[in-house]
Amino acid sequence: MKRRNFIGKTLIGATGLTFGVPNVLPASARGANDKVILAIIGSGDRGTPTIINTCKVNSNVEIKSVCDVNDVKAARAISAIEKNLAYKPAHVRNMKEVFDDKDIDAVWISTPEHWHALAMVWACQAGKDVYVEKNPTTNIWEGRKMVEAAKKYNRIVQIGFQNRSAPYGFSACDYIKSGKLGKVVHVKSFNMLKGSKWQVQPDEEVPMGLDWDSWLGHAPFRPYNPGVHSMTSRGGWGNFWDFSGGTLADDASHVMDLARMVLGDPGHPKSVYGWGGNHAWGSKRETPEFQTMTFDFGEYTMTCESGNATSYMRKTPTAIRMNDSQFPDWKQNATRTEIYGTKGIMFLGRHGGGWQVFSNDGEIVEQDGGIFPDEWHQKNFIESIRSRKQPNGDVEQGHLSATLIHLGNIAYRVGNKQLFFDVEDERFVDNEKANQLIKSSYRENYRIEEFE
Ligand SMILES: NC(=O)c1ccc[n+]([C@@H]2O[C@H](COP(=O)([O-])OP(=O)(O)OC[C@H]3O[C@@H](n4cnc5c(N)ncnc54)[C@H](O)[C@@H]3O)[C@@H](O)[C@H]2O)c1
Repeated sequence: MKRRNFIGKTLIGATGLTFGVPNVLPASARGANDKVILAIIGSGDRGTPTIINTCKVNSNVEIKSVCDVNDVKAARAISAIEKNLAYKPAHVRNMKEVFDDKDIDAVWISTPEHWHALAMVWACQAGKDVYVEKNPTTNIWEGRKMVEAAKKYNRIVQIGFQNRSAPYGFSACDYIKSGKLGKVVHVKSFNMLKGSKWQVQPDEEVPMGLDWDSWLGHAPFRPYNPGVHSMTSRGGWGNFWDFSGGTLADDASHVMDLARMVLGDPGHPKSVYGWGGNHAWGSKRETPEFQTMTFDFGEYTMTCESGNATSYMRKTPTAIRMNDSQFPDWKQNATRTEIYGTKGIMFLGRHGGGWQVFSNDGEIVEQDGGIFPDEWHQKNFIESIRSRKQPNGDVEQGHLSATLIHLGNIAYRVGNKQLFFDVEDERFVDNEKANQLIKSSYRENYRIEEFE
């Protein structure tokens, strides 16, 4: 089926892009090469190159609009798109204009995390498919709303946990399923990064070219602060509970999501013990400099060590990420998972690190190398839009992985405790302080409506 063929019957937009007759996306499959029109919401350092690459590695995919509340970043993104794709998308500040635009099939949400769930739900309600960056949520309640929205509005939703499209992740999962590792008894995941002291900065006037109220979104109003926000780079929002969940949400979320995937996507754990603190550098930031947690999955436990205090640990180097016959030096690999079976141990890397299984004598028994998987994830999203088949970054699994982050952070926030979790109701057992952190507060005009 040819959904839209613009050649010969399209308007050439003022921006130089071609757009056709307004068309609401049907929920049925389309041709493998039908045009897909995207808009980016949040054109920072992550979103801009990834949406550009998506247009390069997929045919017939175009970007109509760049939505950003920061005019500097929007201008930078538009110029990068013009340079790479030879056309100029329009700039809009308010994402509702994107949702109202019938030309746009799908949105690419790469705002800070406090905007992900609300923007995703609004997009689904407007009939758009969605790519939404990790960490998909800032609390457990939002994740359930995202799952419900995708289902209710019949949308394709790809969570930006790109390791889910890595072929070596599938082979690791098959290997564990085959029983060759024996019965899994313990899983250890690491996200141990370098860091330094985080300094508090004084509030300032809101910079020109920024809609600060919209940037804050549902979060409680606070004056502009350069420790939270930067006009030209990411800024420090990741260190504040209102906007994210620290290093755990920012980076360890990938490691734990990949670990869950190769373990066959277990449901929620029954309990979490979480510990953390700012004892390395003595920073005054809200999120801890270092934290550890233990999750009880019934027949095995999973631990995670995450933080910004260990400069000698190394993320997988680029040369190894892009070479499927090289493997990381596991002992100092900052973002690895160790899976202990009764018959062997598997070391699993992210970023294309691959996996290796070792015998009792320390010999390599089996292995599969990897390549950094962003491109596969981008292709899988566009293919899913066209085929209407579930993408690899399934929204339910994204919610379950993100919940590990929230469980670890909530256990830290209520005083380094063990918390028991009712996996059906998605609430804590006998801990009201923890239950209050299941959902954030939402300012008027920035609320996710209750629906199922
Ligand atoms: N999958 C990955 O490997 C990966 C890597 C890096 C970042 N990320 C994720 O991508 C997201 C963006 O990260 P970043 O480093 O680009 O952050 P960033 O702060 O540089 O960019 C976010 C952009 O969103 C814009 N924005 C904020 N509120 C908005 C609103 N209401 N409407 C429109 N735009 C709005 C900001 O102005 C900014 O330009 C984060 O969630 C981050 O965790 C994922």
